[in-house]
Amino acid sequence: MPSIIQISNLTKKFGNIVAVDHLDLEVEDGEILGLLGPNGAGKTTTILMLATVIRPTEGTATVGGFDIRKNPEKVRELFGIVFQEPKMLWVSTPWDIVNWHAKVCGLSTEERKRRVKEVLESLDMWEHRRKNVHALSGGMRKRVELAKVLVQRPKIAIVDEPTAQIDVVGKHRVWNMLRRLRDEGSTLILATNELYEADELSDRVAIMHRGKLLVCDTPKTLKDSIVGGDIVEIQLENDASAKIVEELKNFKEVVNILQVKPCILRLYLNKVEEVVPKIMNTLVKKNVPVTSIHMSEPSLDDVFAHYTGLTIEEAQKSGE
Ligand SMILES: Nc1ncnc2c1ncn2[C@@H]1O[C@H](COP(=O)(O)OP(=O)(O)OP(=O)(O)O)[C@@H](O)[C@H]1O
Ligand SMILES: [Mg+2]
Repeated sequence: MPSIIQISNLTKKFGNIVAVDHLDLEVEDGEILGLLGPNGAGKTTTILMLATVIRPTEGTATVGGFDIRKNPEKVRELFGIVFQEPKMLWVSTPWDIVNWHAKVCGLSTEERKRRVKEVLESLDMWEHRRKNVHALSGGMRKRVELAKVLVQRPKIAIVDEPTAQIDVVGKHRVWNMLRRLRDEGSTLILATNELYEADELSDRVAIMHRGKLLVCDTPKTLKDSIVGGDIVEIQLENDASAKIVEELKNFKEVVNILQVKPCILRLYLNKVEEVVPKIMNTLVKKNVPVTSIHMSEPSLDDVFAHYTGLTIEEAQKSGE
């Protein structure tokens, strides 16, 4: 697939802080690119530079062939943005905001009416359309912010933490709408620090940490690339002794063992189908009763830990 955005050497410094550090990345036409990283990773700063809201310190990017430094107004025509912190102080109701946005984007009166209603309904905001925005909850405000881009259907949609304040039912609804936007031809950049959201939505995921790009690939390739990529969780009837943990570590296929709880062992291993029967045999022989055994695929959480050496919780703390 051809790329619609080419980022090269893109850097932003705020005083001593290097928020984005010599970033090279391409976004393919028609994909959802997940930009994943803990707080302070540089996701929003990257997005704001692409959208020409802030200027890079060094490096540049081309968007649809236009340079963000040389042709910012051309670049802006291609974008629709869902900001992390919605700003909507100047008009008073969700309907006014979305309708005004549709007007600015050049939708005909008839199409505008139809789409504004359709989008507000599907975001469960139709009954709140006449409320004062200051009386809306955080999640509702985010829905209004999302509605603008969904009505606009821009060539490139940038969505910054689209479901951060939205409830579980709402999240699934928003994810479906963002997928539909992609299927109708938009390219999406999705900044998120939710691993599950990145995994669910992204065609490819770029993992950022401290302003740098660590890796970028499809969620499946990323997960498959981890050594010891199969995960088996074994729950024992009693707490696991250090001796039994050592015993299991001796299997050459076992790469690592985490004692998640005193009686739960999480094994990262290769060749799961060969090694699990051997492990079960050992446990039976050693008289260690097993309550349950659960196999799972690695998640993006495991991928993140693999590339950064940190769990996402640790990285979150270090970013604060
Ligand atoms: N306007 C600014 N002035 C000074 N420092 C800034 C500014 N904007 C961002 N930063 C710093 O740049 C770094 C990257 O911030 P950024 O908002 O891009 O991270 P993020 O990945 O979007 O994080 P989050 O998940 O919290 O939204 C942080 O260290 C932040 O404190
Ligand atoms: Mg951010």
